[in-house]
Amino acid sequence: MMETKIWTSSELSAAVSAIKAGQLVSFPSETVYGLGANAFDEVAVKNVYAAKGRPSDNPLIVHVADIEQVSDFAQVNEWAEKLMQQFWPGPLTMILPVQPDALSETVTGGLDTVAIRMPDNDVTRQLIRDAGVPIVGPSANTSGRPSPTLATHVYHDLQGKIAGVVDDGATMIGVESTIIDLSTDQPAVLRPGKITPEELAEVLGTDVISEVTMKDASAAPKAPGMKYRHYAPDKDVYMVGADEWADVLAWVDEQDQPVGLMMPAQAMAQHNVADAWSLGEDVNSAMAQLFAGLRHFDGQADVKTIFVADFVRDSTHAAYNNRLLKASGGHRATELWTD
Ligand code: TXA
Ligand code: MG
Repeated sequence: MMETKIWTSSELSAAVSAIKAGQLVSFPSETVYGLGANAFDEVAVKNVYAAKGRPSDNPLIVHVADIEQVSDFAQVNEWAEKLMQQFWPGPLTMILPVQPDALSETVTGGLDTVAIRMPDNDVTRQLIRDAGVPIVGPSANTSGRPSPTLATHVYHDLQGKIAGVVDDGATMIGVESTIIDLSTDQPAVLRPGKITPEELAEVLGTDVISEVTMKDASAAPKAPGMKYRHYAPDKDVYMVGADEWADVLAWVDEQDQPVGLMMPAQAMAQHNVADAWSLGEDVNSAMAQLFAGLRHFDGQADVKTIFVADFVRDSTHAAYNNRLLKASGGHRATELWTD
């Protein structure tokens, strides 16, 4: 086992050397921490899959520091140009046709497209620039665990398997980037994130399909990773609607074991609950707190059940609700006391 370092942002040169030497480095971003490797180093990219325990048919996002870098390996179209101008650096990943032979199948999963993103984090863009290569980066969690929003989450999952983590504090957004497919004749959101289909449609001047709103959940997902179980802690997770907390708290009162409560600040105040994991004031704070809260209760052996607030279905809540839906397997608290 190698020793995994935790570097501050002023120790970036050590991280740059590690990337250049074909090693794995976890990097901060505005969404979640990523697991970085030189995108052109086949062995390093294979090690990314191994470190995460990730299925090899699930392709990686290539992270860039400059817009000019993109055309080295992807075919940029007019839609992509508009979205880069408006949203990069930022939490938006674009799927574009890959340039022939520019990237290995290990990166693209053998698809004829590639996922690209420019993260909104100065330290990480400096890392990419200094390394002189684009950096592949899945979320830096063990496959199937919630994505990391703190360097300590990365360390917990990957210590001994990677060279180090560049610690830049808590990630601001807390859920992964919006993925938009620009490789077909109609733009389509494959994974919801902070940037909504409406915001994208407005900039593109054309309709954007949103897979999340599609009725047929059995259809094969277009982002290969969406078919795997994600974000799931090792506990039973239940979704709770805004008007269901009184019932939840009554049920909790009858249990012998402690439970995990992840509640909006307003619900905590209304029901006089002091010891919940606060999701804060709105959906933005809830997104930032979701994965950290799941990991917090996952680490408590006597907690077997976690209750988490969901938000009413609308497009600004879609990213949060989508991650919670996966963590809970679709289970709602009301199942515990009905039928
Ligand atoms: O915010 C994020 O996007 C983070 C940070 C680290 O950048 N990264 C991230 O990567 O979430 P990952 O690997 O956990 O998720 C990438 C998703 C997977 O579901 C994968 O299947 C999909 O992107 N993907 C990658 N390449 C694709 C392609 N060519 N076509 C469709 N989906 C693709
Ligand atoms: Mg991931």
